[in-house]
Amino acid sequence: MDFLEIPSRTDLIEFHPGVELGVQLYLKRDDLIHPDISGNKWRKLKFNIEEAKRRKASTLITAGGPWSNHLAATAASGRLLGFKTIGFIRGEEPNAWSDTLRFCKDQGMKLIFIPRKDFDQLPNSVSHLLLDYMPALPAGRDAYFIPLGGENELGVEGCKEMMAEINMKVDYIALAVGTGTTMKGVAASVPEKRIIGFSALRESTQHSASFLHWVKEHPQLSLTHEYSFGGFAKSCPELENFIVEFHLQNKIRLDPVYTGKMMYGLFEMMKKGKFGKGDHIVAIHTGGLQGIKGFPDLHNRLFTS
Ligand SMILES: Cc1ncc(COP(=O)(O)O)c(C=O)c1O
Repeated sequence: MDFLEIPSRTDLIEFHPGVELGVQLYLKRDDLIHPDISGNKWRKLKFNIEEAKRRKASTLITAGGPWSNHLAATAASGRLLGFKTIGFIRGEEPNAWSDTLRFCKDQGMKLIFIPRKDFDQLPNSVSHLLLDYMPALPAGRDAYFIPLGGENELGVEGCKEMMAEINMKVDYIALAVGTGTTMKGVAASVPEKRIIGFSALRESTQHSASFLHWVKEHPQLSLTHEYSFGGFAKSCPELENFIVEFHLQNKIRLDPVYTGKMMYGLFEMMKKGKFGKGDHIVAIHTGGLQGIKGFPDLHNRLFTS
C-alpha cells in the first residue's frame, strides 16, 4: 500500500537517563506509518483486511470504546480501501461524542452503541453482537469481523513484521501491552530477544489467563504493571509532564494511554540501573496519538509548544 510509510524508520533517542551509562535507546516509529492508521493498529489490521478481501467481504465490523485507536484505524482503513465499516461502541450513546467517534463517523463508519453491561459480557468476537443488534444484516456472508483491539491470529501475524524491519544490534525490546497481541507477534519473530512489556492495565488479572500463561512460559519475556498509573486510560500530572518533557527534548509525541507509560517505565528502569553499558534497547512507538484529544490539557501542551 503506497500510502503507508512501511518499513517504519527507527530513530536514535538522544535524551534519556541511560546516556551516561552508555545505554543506546532507539524508537521504532510505527506512529509514522499513516496519520490515521498508525502504530500497531495497521500491523494488526493488515492480514485481517487481506482476509476480508479474499472472502470478498464488503464490510468490516469491529468494536471498541469511545476513544479506541483500533476503531479509528479500522474506520480510516475501510474508507481508504473501499470497505463499508460498522463499529460497536461500548456504552450508551453520549450527549457529546468523543473526537474518536466523530472521526469514525466522518470516515463513514456506522456506529452502534451497546450498553456496557452487555458489551462487557461478550466474548472476544463481535459476531453475535451483529445478530442481536442488526438482525437485518446478512451476517457472515458480506461482513468480516475483526475482534476488539485486532486481537486474533492474523493480528499476531501482522505484528511479526515489525522487528523484521530492524537491522541492528538489539538486546531488549520495550513495548506497551493491552491485549498482548503485539507482544506475541514481536516475540514470535525474534524468539531469542528479551522483551519488556509495559502493561496499560492496572493488574495482571485484567489480562487474559492464556496471555499471562504464555508470558510465564517464556523466560525472556517480562510484563510489568508498575507504570500503569492506576489503570487503563488513567493519567496524572506526573505522566503528562513526562510526556511534554520527552517531546521538548526528543521532538517525539507519546500518548498517555500506552506509549507514554511505556517510556516512563523504561526511563525509571534505566535510573534504577537495570541496563548496562552497550545495551541496545529498541522501544516500539505503537501510535495512539489520536487519543490525546481525550486529554485536553496534554493535547494543548503537546500541540501548541
Ligand atoms: C497505541 C497502542 N499501543 C499499544 C497497544 C497495545 O497493543 P496490544 O493490544 O496488541 O497489546 C494498543 C492497543 O491495541 C494501542 O492502541
